[in-house]
Amino acid sequence: MKKKVISVDNITKEVALSTNKTIKILNNVSLAAYANEFLSIVGPSGSGKSTLLKSMSGLMQPTAGKVTINATDPYRLRPSQTAKMRRHEIGFIFQSYNLVPALPVFENIVLPLRLSGQKIDRQAVVQLMDKMNFAADLNSFVANLSGGEKQKVAIARVLLTKAKIIFADEPTGAVDSASKEIIFNLLRSLVDQGACVIMVTHDIELATKTDRTLTLKDGKIEQIFTKPKVEDLLASIEKG
Ligand SMILES: Nc1ncnc2c1ncn2[C@@H]1O[C@H](COP(=O)(O)OP(=O)(O)OP(=O)(O)O)[C@@H](O)[C@H]1O
Ligand SMILES: [Mg+2]
Repeated sequence: MKKKVISVDNITKEVALSTNKTIKILNNVSLAAYANEFLSIVGPSGSGKSTLLKSMSGLMQPTAGKVTINATDPYRLRPSQTAKMRRHEIGFIFQSYNLVPALPVFENIVLPLRLSGQKIDRQAVVQLMDKMNFAADLNSFVANLSGGEKQKVAIARVLLTKAKIIFADEPTGAVDSASKEIIFNLLRSLVDQGACVIMVTHDIELATKTDRTLTLKDGKIEQIFTKPKVEDLLASIEKG
C-alpha cells in the first residue's frame, strides 16, 4: 500500500500588501504525496509554485488549511521539534540556492550534516560532486561560482542528508542539459530507494518523466496527471 508522507488540505495563502490590499497566492489547494513517488509541479511564473512548496514543507505557514508531514502538523511544533524535522526528515533545494557566501563550497555542502552532528565523509562529497560534473574547487567560495555550480552545491547539500522527503524548487533551472539529466537521475534514484521527491519545474518535458504532475494556475490546482504527455501539460497550463 502507498505510504502517504504529506497531506495538504484546503490551504490558502494570503499576503497583505502595503496598499492595504490582500492578495491570495494559494487558493484552496489540496493534495497528497507518497513515499516512492516523484511528483512534479508546473505552472506559469507567479502561479504560486514556490509558495506551495514552502507551505507544504513547513517553511511558510498558510493562512488557512492544514499541512501534515509524516502525520505531524509542522506548524504546531515547538521550535526545537521544527529544527529536528528540518534536519532529519525533509530536504529543501531552494530556487535561489540559499548558500552561505562566507563559507567555501565544501562547508556549504556539509553544513546540514555538521548542524545535525553527523559524520562527514569527504570521499562521498567528492564522488557526488564528480558525478554531477562539478568542476570548481571545493575550497573556493560559493560567491565565485556560476549559477549552475551554485545549483549543484544546493542539490548536493540536500542529497547528502538522506532526507526521505525532498522539495526541489527548479533544481535544474540553471544547469546544462547533460547536468539536468544527471540531477534528474539522482533524484529518481532517491525515489526508487523510498523517498518522496516533489519538484517544481518550468521544464515540461522533465515533468513528464515524473510519476505524477500537478498543474498550478493563479494559486489553484488546475489538474493532476499521472504520467502526462507534454501536450497534456501545455494544454492544462495554457487553458484560459
Ligand atoms: N510575500 C509576498 N508578498 C507579496 N506577494 C508575494 C509574496 N510572495 C509571493 N508573492 C506573489 O505571489 C505570486 C506567486 O509567487 P511564487 O513565488 O509562489 O510563484 P512561482 O510560481 O514560484 O513563480 P516562478 O515560476 O517565477 O518562480 C507572485 O505573483 C508573487 O509576486
Ligand atoms: Mg518559484
